[in-house]
Amino acid sequence: MKASSLLHPLPSPLSLSSSSTKPPLISTLFHKFHSFKPQSFNPPISSKTLHKPKTPLFLKPPIYSTQSSHLQTFITWAKHLITSLEPTCTDFDSSILHRELKWFLDDAVEDPSMITQPSGTVQCKVVNLRENLDTMYQLWEDRMVRRRPFQYIVGCEHWRDLVLSVEDGVLIPRPETGEIVDVVESLVNGVDGGNGLGKDGIWADLGTGSGALAIGIARVLGGEGKVVGVDVSDVAVSVAKYNVERYGLQDIIDIRQGSWFDPIIEFEGQLTGLVSNPPYIPSKDMDGLQAEVGKHEPWLALDGGVEGLDYLSYLCTKTSTMLKPGGFFAFETNGEEQCKILANYLENESGGSIGNVKIVSDFAGVPRFVTGHRRETR
Ligand SMILES: C[S@@+](CC[C@H](N)C(=O)[O-])C[C@H]1O[C@@H](n2cnc3c(N)ncnc32)[C@H](O)[C@@H]1O
Repeated sequence: MKASSLLHPLPSPLSLSSSSTKPPLISTLFHKFHSFKPQSFNPPISSKTLHKPKTPLFLKPPIYSTQSSHLQTFITWAKHLITSLEPTCTDFDSSILHRELKWFLDDAVEDPSMITQPSGTVQCKVVNLRENLDTMYQLWEDRMVRRRPFQYIVGCEHWRDLVLSVEDGVLIPRPETGEIVDVVESLVNGVDGGNGLGKDGIWADLGTGSGALAIGIARVLGGEGKVVGVDVSDVAVSVAKYNVERYGLQDIIDIRQGSWFDPIIEFEGQLTGLVSNPPYIPSKDMDGLQAEVGKHEPWLALDGGVEGLDYLSYLCTKTSTMLKPGGFFAFETNGEEQCKILANYLENESGGSIGNVKIVSDFAGVPRFVTGHRRETR
């Protein structure tokens, strides 16, 4: 499996909502901070997550086989599909798709030297595959015709230094979200005038999805602290658990199913850190998302309500009670206006419990994150 951010074919959902839309007045949103209450979700104790996570293609055993000539026929067909569809889709980039095809083949074929056959050789060798050749045809057609995200085709995403399993029903983690881990790392290591958070605290990742932030933060804590990852989706919970186990972090990360703070209420006033990348796309922008995102990624992970602020605002109202004095939070947002609204609320409406509120830009220069601390004293 080759890591290359160049191969990331999806624009961030963060950049997909209409930037020309006039933001709502901050004051008209304030009342929603207090009135919005997400549905509580607590699975019955007896209902363990039933979803069985899928194994990424590159980790599957090579139990299928085909003739090398049949593999070459597949490759010719797959390349032809790219060329024939390109003129009909303005947002297709054939160079990226050719690299995706190479990646797909590298993952699917046990011995990648079998992918390139010197011309003129007698092609009668047996090739071992990690996926049935018929299924490979189906998968590539899904990618090209139905615009299924490439990460769902190969079952994983390279994110920071991790290879995370993903599948339909789980958001593909985006590169910019990783910047939250960088901020946490600076804080616990005392860089940037770190405030002595230390590595031994309890952290929460609300809406953990594939477990990306929970795993990234657990590795920063280096085994000294604990991380609780929460998600309402049973697919996300099972995939996050799978990723946690793949990285051997099951003693440090506890993945729990439920709605936002419900599964972690026992840590009220004790959290050293709280991070979240909740759904924040305004509902009206959902239909305009790029096909890979809007047609295939879970709306549960994307749709943030009318203004996109339903969940962010709810999280803000509870943050100071969940954090211990001096505790840190970081929220990802849709961009500038959401950042301003949240920062304004946290600074002015939190009864003085929150301080050091900052808007942090992502690596594209877009104001993306809101961070801050619970004050030591109120
Ligand atoms: C934007 S995704 C973020 C996933 C992951 N943290 C990441 O950055 O890749 C938002 C996540 O919030 C979860 N979610 C939606 N509603 C929720 C709720 N009421 N309680 C907990 N999680 C929820 C979704 O299932 C989804 O996994």
